[in-house]
Amino acid sequence: MDRRSFLKKSGIGAIAVTGLALGGIIYAKTEKNMKKIVIIDGGPRRNMNTAQMLESVAQGAESAGAEVKTVRLYDMDYKGCISCMACKLKGKASNVCKYKDALAPVLEDISQADGLVLGSPIYFGDVTGQMRAFLERLTFPWLSYNDYSITAPKRMPVLLVTTMNGTPERNNSNGFGSMEYCITAAMGEPQKLAAYNTYQVKNYGNYELAGFSEEAKQQWRNGHWEEDLQKAFEAGRKMAETKTF
Ligand SMILES: Cc1cc2nc3c(=O)[nH]c(=O)nc-3n(C[C@H](O)[C@H](O)[C@H](O)COP(=O)(O)O)c2cc1C
Repeated sequence: MDRRSFLKKSGIGAIAVTGLALGGIIYAKTEKNMKKIVIIDGGPRRNMNTAQMLESVAQGAESAGAEVKTVRLYDMDYKGCISCMACKLKGKASNVCKYKDALAPVLEDISQADGLVLGSPIYFGDVTGQMRAFLERLTFPWLSYNDYSITAPKRMPVLLVTTMNGTPERNNSNGFGSMEYCITAAMGEPQKLAAYNTYQVKNYGNYELAGFSEEAKQQWRNGHWEEDLQKAFEAGRKMAETKTF
C-alpha cells in the first residue's frame, strides 16, 4: 500500500497526528506482539516539515502492523548528559541512562524497541540542540570506558531523517555528525532520508526572506515534497517489515 491509499483507507489527513498526546509522547494503538517503533521528533514545529516526514514514517510503519510511539522532544523537560557517571559505576554499570527525568521512560522504551527513527531539522549544519542533548543521554551509556566498545541494550534498525533549506547539490548538513558513528557501532548502519529545500514558512511575503525565491521554493516543493513523504512512508513500512528484529 502506498501513502495515498493508506491515508484514504485510514481517513488520516496529510498532517494529522494520530493518537493521544501526553507530555510530549504520542501513543498509538497497542496490541500484543506488534513490533514497536519509537520515533523521536527533534524539531520544534508541530506539523511542519520534520513532523510531517516523521508522521509519514509512522503511517508507513502502522500500515505494516507496527505500534508506533512518537516522542516530541521540544514538549519535554530534560537535560543532555550531566556527567553523573552513574552508568559507569563499578558493579552497577548500565547501557541505559540512569538519570531520572522526563527522558528516562523514553530511553527505557528505546532499549526494548524493534526500531528507532530520529528526525531533526538542520540548524547551522547540525541537528537541533534538543536532538543533540537527547543523543548524549542515549549514547553515552553505550560507550565502555574499559575497552571503548559501544553496545546498545538491543540492536535494531535505525532511520535518520533530516530536513533543511539546502539542496542535494548545495547544503551544509553534517546530518547526525559524530553521533552517526556511535549509532552505527551500536545498532548497525542507519538508513538515511533527507528532505531538501523545504518551505521554511507558509507565506514568504510576510518575512524578511529576500534571499529565497518563494516561486523557486514552490516549484521545488511541487516536484519533490510528495515524493519525500512517500519515501518516508516506505522507510517506515520497511522498518516494520524487516525480519532482523
Ligand atoms: C535556527 C535555524 C538554523 C537553520 N540552519 C540551517 C542550516 O544550517 N542549513 C540549512 O540547510 N537549513 C537551515 N535551517 C532551515 C531548516 O533546517 C529548514 O527550514 C527545516 O526544514 C525546518 O524544519 P521544520 O519545518 O520541521 O521546522 C535553519 C533554520 C533555523 C530556524
